[in-house]
Order: sequence, then structure tokens, then C-alpha cells
Amino acid sequence: MSFDPATLQVPEELLARYDVAGPRYTSYPTVPTWTDGIGADAYASALRRAASSGSPMALYAHFPYCAVKCLYCGCHALTTSRASTNDRYLDDLERELDLVTAQLGRGRSTAQMHWGGGTPNLLDGRQLERAFGLFADRFTFTPDVELSVEADPRLTTREQLDTLRALGFTRISFGVQDLDHGVQVAIGRIQPLEMIADVCAWARESGFEGINLDLIYGLPRQTAESFGRTIEHVLQLAPDRVACFGYAHLPALRAHQRLINEAELPDASSRAALFHQAVTAFVAADYAWLGLDHFARRSDPLAVAQRDGRLHRNFMGYTTMPASHLVGVGMSAISEVAGCFAQSEPRLAAWRARVSAGQLPTIRGHRMSADDQARQRAILSLMCNLELALDAVPTGLGNLETRLARYVEDGLVEFQPDRLVVTPLGRCFVRNLCMEFDAYLPAQGATPRYSRTV
Ligand SMILES: C[S@@+](CC[C@H](N)C(=O)[O-])C[C@H]1O[C@@H](n2cnc3c(N)ncnc32)[C@H](O)[C@@H]1O
Ligand code: SF4
Repeated sequence: MSFDPATLQVPEELLARYDVAGPRYTSYPTVPTWTDGIGADAYASALRRAASSGSPMALYAHFPYCAVKCLYCGCHALTTSRASTNDRYLDDLERELDLVTAQLGRGRSTAQMHWGGGTPNLLDGRQLERAFGLFADRFTFTPDVELSVEADPRLTTREQLDTLRALGFTRISFGVQDLDHGVQVAIGRIQPLEMIADVCAWARESGFEGINLDLIYGLPRQTAESFGRTIEHVLQLAPDRVACFGYAHLPALRAHQRLINEAELPDASSRAALFHQAVTAFVAADYAWLGLDHFARRSDPLAVAQRDGRLHRNFMGYTTMPASHLVGVGMSAISEVAGCFAQSEPRLAAWRARVSAGQLPTIRGHRMSADDQARQRAILSLMCNLELALDAVPTGLGNLETRLARYVEDGLVEFQPDRLVVTPLGRCFVRNLCMEFDAYLPAQGATPRYSRTV
């Protein structure tokens, strides 16, 4: 469906109706529904099932440490000022990788690896090389493997980028969030535009093929004017991809977020206006709006995949590669292996104790039923490709037209003869739409674990 952002005005009554707490659907079923019924044994047997099945797999490694904690941060992140902390973490990561490969086997073909955090580039050059070796020794990267890494611009050096490039990383994602000084003060993260411009230039000089910049809308003190300037600067930096996340404010779960002054947070209508502003600006600058909150140059592989209906999404974000299995390692990491989700212990000391004792550190997870898989496919299709073939509608939803009547009336979806299509306006509410396909939500009731959908 063609999209003209100038015509996309979100009526206040829709914001009021659809602004609820809801999942971002990086998985279905979502993490809060998982149980401790999946532990080390169940995950080990999933890894054994995966040993001989499927196409090349994907790896995720979590590096939890940061130099300082940003006030808004929702990630599993810890702070340290000692380089030796990362050495000790790598020792434990090595133990965990041995536990994984004891089940999965060594040399498993891998097409994608992402390093996230926390801040992977808190590792120095020697530590980056050691970390890479831990994986390269145990997995066989395909010739066209995609290696990507998240980096904090405040710590990024030319040497570090050269090291990462030499190891084979071709994609890098920098956390920008907002370029306005007042907003940066309010979120406890000062990084001037010149710094971001420098790291982007160095990454290009080093030979990185893809640069992503992360922005957040809905931060304290953000105004249409200040955010407009941030977007303008970001466009001048010409990133290949931009993620523009809605600020997830969950102070009950993330105690440091209590230092954010809630009186300075934009209200629901201003938040929606900020996001609309981002969509308008990026689409006008010839970026494709992907799924929920990502943008990519129209020639970028993600944009091409969306046009071809091949865009996929997993815990690492949007991707062109639907890997057969995703193995995550490191504290808090999530895996999806042989129809089984598994999350590792998110508390560092407990994670360390488990791997030191020779146990896989899985603490919760979920084994997918056939119904889960059908709903997962439907939700993925809506989140990625903004449509759902009617013959792929899971059973058990009742009459879909009746169920979604309100969405049709509000202009958020259209029923075509063979498919359900999300309209441009409906893209702002796609999380709400996916909630209609979620079999677990009603049982969960109000949960403080989800952020606002709008
Ligand atoms: C692991 S960080 C990126 C790498 C590095 N640690 C940094 O901050 O530059 C991942 C991204 O998550 C996003 N993020 C973190 N906390 C968030 C929150 N509460 N709501 C929305 N996005 C958030 C930020 O955009 C951040 O860049
Ligand atoms: S946003 Fe990034 S740098 Fe800041 S605390 Fe979170 S993970 Fe660390």
C-alpha cells in the first residue's frame, strides 16, 4: 500500500483508545508468559535436536557492561570501571559456549552473529579479538556471514573500529537517542553531534558497509522543535538504517529510571506527534519505514526484503535471514532453538555461578505448541510485512472480521479478498493489532512489564 506521511494524522480519540501497555513482540509468546518449566535440561535437549537440523543458524552474544548507566536504559546493563571485569566475563562466556557446544556440537554453520549489550565496545582491542575467537573456534561462519555490533559513540575509537572490521564485522549500530543538549542532560548521556559525526566517518573509513543509528522518542524535554533538529542532523549523517524506539518507561522494573523527571515526559499525544515527525522526515528523505519503528534506505537489504515480503524479525531486530536456530549466550541472553525459547539467568552472579558449576544457565522459557507457531507466524507477518494472508489466520480466533471490526471502522486495517492489510494509519497501532492474536494476554491482566503501545 502506498504511503504518504503528509496524510497520516493520528486522531486524538484513537490515541486515547489504543494507548495501553502491550508487548513489542520480539517474540511470541512474549517473555513474561514463559515459565521455569524450561530449564537447563530442556534447553540442552533442544540444542541436541538442533545439532543436525536446519539451515545455518544465528548467534547473539550479550556484553552487559557499560561505563556509566544512562537514566532511561531498559537493557540488561551493568557498570564497571575496570578492564579486568571484561576479562572475567569472557572467561565465563567461554565456559558457557563450551556447555552449548557440548550439546550442539562444534563447527555448526552460522550465517549471522550480533553482539549487543550493554556495550560491546567497552572491550579493548585485545578483548574484542579474544571474544571473537571464542566464537570462531566453535562455529563455522558461512562465507557471507553477517557480523554486527552495537557501540557507544562515547567509547568508540578508530583503532577499535579497525579491529572490528579486521575481525569481519560489517554492520555497526551507534546509540544516539537524541542530539539536543537539554534532553541529553535530562537522560544522563552527553554526546555532542561532532562526536557522532566523527564515529560515523571513522566507521565508513574503516570499511563498515552498514551504519545504524538508534534514536528514542518520548524522552524528557523533547519538543517538536528539538526533535526536528535531531532528525535533521541524523539525516545529514546519512545512516543506512535508523531505529526510532518509543521510550519504554518502566520505573517499577528499572529503578534507575526513577531519576527521570516524569513531569518532563511528553504526554501520549506529543509522543505520537514526535514519532509522526520522525516517520514524515525519514520517508521524505527516501528511507523506507520498516515494520514498527525502523527505517532503512530504500536500497538497503531490509527495505528490499520488506518490498518482497521477506522481512523477518527476531530478538536481534529486523533481519533478512530467518535463521533456523538462534543461540544466545551471555547473561540474560535469549535463544530460540528447535521450537523452544530459553532465557539465561539475568543476574550476573547467578549466571556466573551456573556456568562455573558446569550448568547451562537457562532459567525460563517456553516450548512452542502448534497453536503458538501459527500465532507467531501471523504476528511476525503483521509486524514485518504489514499483512496477513487469510489462509494463514490461526484457528481459535473466532471470526476475524468480527474480532477486528473496530480496527476496520477506525481505518487501521482493510480486508481484501485474500488478505488482511494494515493501513498507513494502522502502522502506528500494529502492536495493538498483534495483541488480538495473542492467546496469553487476557490471562496476564494488567502487567507492569510492558511499555505503552503508542
Ligand atoms: C544496548 S543499547 C546500544 C549500545 C550502547 N549501549 C549505547 O547505548 O550506545 C541498545 C539501544 O536500546 C535503546 N534503549 C535503551 N533503553 C531504552 C528504553 N528504555 N526505551 C527505548 N529504547 C531504549 C537505545 O536506543 C539504545 O541505543
Ligand atoms: S543505553 Fe547503552 S550505554 Fe546506556 S546504560 Fe543502556 S546499554 Fe549502557
